[in-house]
Amino acid sequence: MDAACTRSLGLVLLLLVLSDASWLPWTSEQELAASSSSSRRRTLLQIGFQVPKISIQLPLRQYLNGSNSGAAGAGSNRTDHSELAGAAGGEARRDEGDLRRRCAVAKGSWCGAYLRQDMVPYKTAPRGDKECPNACSGWGNCNHDTGLCECPAGRAGPACEREVKRPCTNRFRHPHEVNVNESVGHIGPDKHDLDIQAPGWIASRCSGYCIDHLALCTCGRDSKYRHIPAPAGSPPWTPPVQWGRPMTDGCMIGVDKDGNRIDWGRPHIKDSDLYGPEAWCNKDNPISHQCGCVWDGNGWPCDGSQQYEPFCPNQCTGHGDCHMGWCRCHPGWYGTDCSRKKAGMELDEGHLSRPWIKRTVDVPPASLRTPPLPTRPRPLIYIYDLTDYTTKFLQLRLGADACMWRRYSQDNSSFLLSMTYSVEAYLHETLLQSEHRTFDPDEADFFYVPVYVTCYMWPILGWADGPWWYAPLAHTRTMHVSNMLSEVHAHISSTFPWWNRRGGRDHIWLMAADEGACYMPTAIYNTSIILTHWGRMDLEHQSNTAYQQDNYNMAMPGEFKAWPGMDWQSRMRGHPCYDPRKDLVIPAFKSVDHFRDSPLLGGAPLVRDLLCYFRGDIGQARFPQYSRGLRQKLFHLWHKNDWAAKHKIYIGNGEMVRGPYSEHLLRSRFCLVLPGDGWSPRAEDAVLHGCIPVVIMDNVHAVFESILDWESFSIRIREDDAALEALPQLLEAVPPERVAKMQRNLARVWHRFAYATGPVMAAHLRRIAATSATAMPEMEAAQAVATLTPRDTPFRPLPAYPVSDDAFHTILQWLHHRINETRA
Ligand SMILES: *[C@@H]1O[C@H](CO)[C@@H](O)[C@H](O)[C@H]1NC(C)=O
Ligand SMILES: *[C@@H]1O[C@H](CO)[C@@H](O)[C@H](O)[C@H]1NC(C)=O
Ligand SMILES: *[C@@H]1O[C@H](CO)[C@@H](O)[C@H](O)[C@H]1NC(C)=O
Ligand SMILES: *[C@@H]1O[C@H](CO)[C@@H](O)[C@H](O)[C@H]1NC(C)=O
Ligand SMILES: *[C@@H]1O[C@H](CO)[C@@H](O)[C@H](O)[C@H]1NC(C)=O
Ligand SMILES: *[C@@H]1O[C@H](CO)[C@@H](O)[C@H](O)[C@H]1NC(C)=O
Repeated sequence: MDAACTRSLGLVLLLLVLSDASWLPWTSEQELAASSSSSRRRTLLQIGFQVPKISIQLPLRQYLNGSNSGAAGAGSNRTDHSELAGAAGGEARRDEGDLRRRCAVAKGSWCGAYLRQDMVPYKTAPRGDKECPNACSGWGNCNHDTGLCECPAGRAGPACEREVKRPCTNRFRHPHEVNVNESVGHIGPDKHDLDIQAPGWIASRCSGYCIDHLALCTCGRDSKYRHIPAPAGSPPWTPPVQWGRPMTDGCMIGVDKDGNRIDWGRPHIKDSDLYGPEAWCNKDNPISHQCGCVWDGNGWPCDGSQQYEPFCPNQCTGHGDCHMGWCRCHPGWYGTDCSRKKAGMELDEGHLSRPWIKRTVDVPPASLRTPPLPTRPRPLIYIYDLTDYTTKFLQLRLGADACMWRRYSQDNSSFLLSMTYSVEAYLHETLLQSEHRTFDPDEADFFYVPVYVTCYMWPILGWADGPWWYAPLAHTRTMHVSNMLSEVHAHISSTFPWWNRRGGRDHIWLMAADEGACYMPTAIYNTSIILTHWGRMDLEHQSNTAYQQDNYNMAMPGEFKAWPGMDWQSRMRGHPCYDPRKDLVIPAFKSVDHFRDSPLLGGAPLVRDLLCYFRGDIGQARFPQYSRGLRQKLFHLWHKNDWAAKHKIYIGNGEMVRGPYSEHLLRSRFCLVLPGDGWSPRAEDAVLHGCIPVVIMDNVHAVFESILDWESFSIRIREDDAALEALPQLLEAVPPERVAKMQRNLARVWHRFAYATGPVMAAHLRRIAATSATAMPEMEAAQAVATLTPRDTPFRPLPAYPVSDDAFHTILQWLHHRINETRA
């Protein structure tokens, strides 16, 4: 275990929490770590390149307003997206012309078959009445379908009767501690560090009071804003007397009261910076010293006095209280999102009338007593309740932005985040809300197995000494993930009958990490449907990551051989990372803010004056296998041969190629799609901005490549030195008519590359439409409309986002087509 590596993880968390910076398209936290720690190195390589600013050229922006019918599908009110959002149901599905338009560029029959399907009637969902042991000791939710308790962080056992500690610490378990099942801590009964002069940095190490079931650090000692727990013997869920101000890894004391250096703290932070009379832990309106309001739900001045709504999946459907991601359901309500009610009990309104809940929650139609429509489309999907591998991780995540795609501000209004891996929480939540959700396993076409793999990999794994699967941070994160998935598999296949019914063929797993499903246990991978971002198809694959902790081929250290789970590598062999016959490469989650300037969201089409573009990590501070060496080689060729001046090609990182990323993509004809440590969301960036993707990754499928006609809107170039060298000539040789044709095809399918489903997304789309409508004075708008024809650009602003064919619905449409195959 490399301490420097773990430390950079801590720094990253801090960055996440403290900065409001809109996210650049980083591939992974590893890239983020590299870019934050390599600024010194970078100056050496800086070339000081700037993309020239283009002056405004008409046609700039098109206004679609009722009376003018000049362009595609002018709506009468372009700020209103709600009509299309609701267009998924009803007769609209069956119109053949509409169907041809909606299924443009689709490969095979999946799209049409979904739209033409015969809807199935709603059935009243069965409601469970099984009781749980000892009512889950007042701690957990009783799942009345299974009679099993779902316990929050800090609790375990059949009745949540057992306390589970996750204390702040200065070390991980040693190889010989194979039978030590409790996490190792370094705090005393007063919850303060045993000896701050003792060496050893772990991200959870704490200069204050440690809330020891979460490894959460707050102000301590006798400070005014210290944590004061509930009195001993209080009933479950009694709130603390005082939460106290949080202290994060980034603000740990590096110099003690007597001026002695503390090696695990921050050298520039003195004891008095936190505990002095005017400091963070004592003052009402303090300077933060990089501490910050890190916990979700805890607003400024971060002492617990200003609570706002934290994120929970579908906000517990209004029938529970959200505790840092985990829903504590109201009496009788159950399930991960508290959307079900025990048989025989009245359905009440709960929190549904609270305005911020109302704006966020979509009650899953199947949970209503009277369904809103008589019928619904297939596929019907049953979602397992696996709180131990989903919402419990959210409780352990410490930083409010980590693992998240949306959050609340202090006034409970919603905003969007762009964590690279947030598809996990997004897809889970959106399925929970969906009309495709069923509560009846017997009628289910599919079973979704929610596990927040990447959220566990980071920030939870390595923060404290646990939770583990199974040995401590022994070299790879992939071992923990693989073992965790085996445990989930064992759990569902022994607890429920549905895995064995079809050998898991109708089960769906999401593998969003850098190298996707490469190291998934074969027993799961062999049959289940995998949604992934990494479409690598070769069978004899070796890990390609430059991030050593994710290298799934690395030999396991011998000193851990007695630990269970160390044989994981033998259980993941014999399968590719992705099989186009049963798996699907899905888009990464991109906040709509990421492409808000694109005509797809009503922005102005720009003149595409740049030939080719790639901005991102070009691997100069990396192992050579990063990006299969491609980014490095292309950057080198670009620089050496002056492709910028000669060909208007731009390849570099943000220091070299400056300016707004989105605008650059909107101005480029071709954009490179290259791997990173595994996947990199470049196809999404390109397509959402109408830039023709140039894919360079042999034997790897790009997003939806198995189900869309990629040849009609993209170019593929071999991973071959001669081909890379000839990039400018290859691109310049594409005839303008072919470019125009590819662009037209892009504009027929680009909306499938972003997630736009759900009430929070709908509100954001409305807001974006409203701002782009007011941004342009009428005169200019009129001019633009008058001059813009379909010949000028295929990228004309859409009247509304086609939500019913966004990325989420594209996945459902494809799943529908797979129903029969999974029955064979
Ligand atoms: C446009 O939609 C908004 C929001 O639904 C509404 O308030 C407004 O009256 C509509 N305008 C027109 C011209 O229909
Ligand atoms: C720890 O867990 C392992 C595996 O579950 C078990 O075999 C062992 O007995 C446990 N040790 C203790 C001290 O409880
Ligand atoms: C925001 O939500 C929290 C938690 O649900 C609530 O206590 C608080 O009063 C709300 N604040 C506002 C401004 O609505
Ligand atoms: C997975 O499938 C392969 C090929 O069909 C088969 O040889 C292997 O035994 C299967 N492994 C497991 C664990 O099911
Ligand atoms: C848009 O509508 C306004 C008011 O309805 C009208 O004055 C204006 O001329 C229209 N613009 C175009 C380009 O038709
Ligand atoms: C699945 O099979 C049924 C019965 O053979 C058939 O009617 C239906 O069209 C098939 N569905 C798809 C999507 O292929």
